[in-house]
Amino acid sequence: MSTFQAPKGTYDLTPPRSATFLAVREAIAAPLRDSGYGYIETPGFENVELFARGVGESTDIVTKEMYTLTTKGGSQLALRPEGTASVLRAALEANLHKAGNLPVKLWYSGSYYRYERPQAGRYRHFSQVGAEAIGTEDPVLDAELIILADQAYRSLGLRQFRILLNSLGDKECRPVYREALQTFLRDLDLDEETRRRIEINPLRVLDDKRADVQKQLTDAPKLRDYLCDACKAYHEEVRALLTAAGVVFEDDEKLVRGLDYYTRTTFEFVHDGLGAQSAVGGGGRYDGLSEMIGGPELPSVGWALGVDRTVLALEAEGIELDLPATTSVYAVPLGEEARRALFGVVTGLRRAGIAADFAFGGRGLKGAMKSANRSGARYALVAGERDLAEGVVQLKDMESGEQSAVPLSEVEAELAKRLG
Ligand code: HAM
Repeated sequence: MSTFQAPKGTYDLTPPRSATFLAVREAIAAPLRDSGYGYIETPGFENVELFARGVGESTDIVTKEMYTLTTKGGSQLALRPEGTASVLRAALEANLHKAGNLPVKLWYSGSYYRYERPQAGRYRHFSQVGAEAIGTEDPVLDAELIILADQAYRSLGLRQFRILLNSLGDKECRPVYREALQTFLRDLDLDEETRRRIEINPLRVLDDKRADVQKQLTDAPKLRDYLCDACKAYHEEVRALLTAAGVVFEDDEKLVRGLDYYTRTTFEFVHDGLGAQSAVGGGGRYDGLSEMIGGPELPSVGWALGVDRTVLALEAEGIELDLPATTSVYAVPLGEEARRALFGVVTGLRRAGIAADFAFGGRGLKGAMKSANRSGARYALVAGERDLAEGVVQLKDMESGEQSAVPLSEVEAELAKRLG
């Protein structure tokens, strides 16, 4: 151990577990790539105002959890706590919405930062793969995204996850509901902070986890009863499309989410094996966000899936991904001359697209063969002075243990043939 450790609330991804993280990212990205989503990458930090306006001044993310900094030049920046505001900002900046091809469908993968109280499944640095479909109001798009997330989780073998679905209404009906809810909440016996929340973000009060608060909320007005006809019809269409696709979901009226930009469709993927931090992913429609950050009207929808929690979900279900060994061939030289010759062979194999590794550091046969075993390689190449004098190397099948001499000049072709 060095003098230093990973900062509180963070952890390092190291082999072999890191391979699972890569595989999870890939499994989430694959259905997106196959469905017309293009890759986007944005900076790890942004102008702090982008998140204040986009995610919302009253959210925990903005008020408590952002890592903010002032640059030497005096700019106020924040490490990105989420991806949606950045992706929309970047799409607007690049005028992607003007290319005449709406929706603009984008996917991304990266690190996000929130100064939260660390606990199992909740970190200060975490990783998401996300998707945003910008510029189109169409329930098919909402359904597409939910179906693709479902497909990604299923391709990983996950089964114990549930999809929670809700509609938060739009700029017509939500303000009416908001006021009715505020009137109801103001009469309850609540602490100071919650009273403040009633005025700023009353829907979040519904999400309060405390039993004494929940008990008082039984008769709270329901958003469902306030949805306007357009929102109701939209939501019914999303539900019907999911049902037609065989995607099972649960209607969850209490689902409000922790970001302010949502309108209409909201959803969360929860996994039952994860305890308190059970949300493995979430998202929804954000029809007003573009205007909130100074852009034109661009109704949009998206989600982000947490890679860390998806890996925890795999572990909770006891799923081991079938990860192919990264090394196919492992070369073990015995002596100086063999080192040069075999390293040449390894370089040739790599250039031919065959994954190969090498016993570095002039180790003995026993230790080097152990490394060959550990590498998961299908074949080992062993050569000593006598082999080289005969112009051959020993090719060992690590599964069957069979070994045969192959002329040096033919090793590459022989391995290419055997590895198919
Ligand atoms: P979010 O629900 O804040 O949504 O985050 C999405 C997922 O990121 C969560 O479900 C969780 O798996 C993971 N996550 C969030 N915070 C942490 C943390 N502290 N530690 C570990 N994992 C975490 C968003 O970020 C929205 N931008 C999603 C979206 C995209 N909505 C529309 N488009």
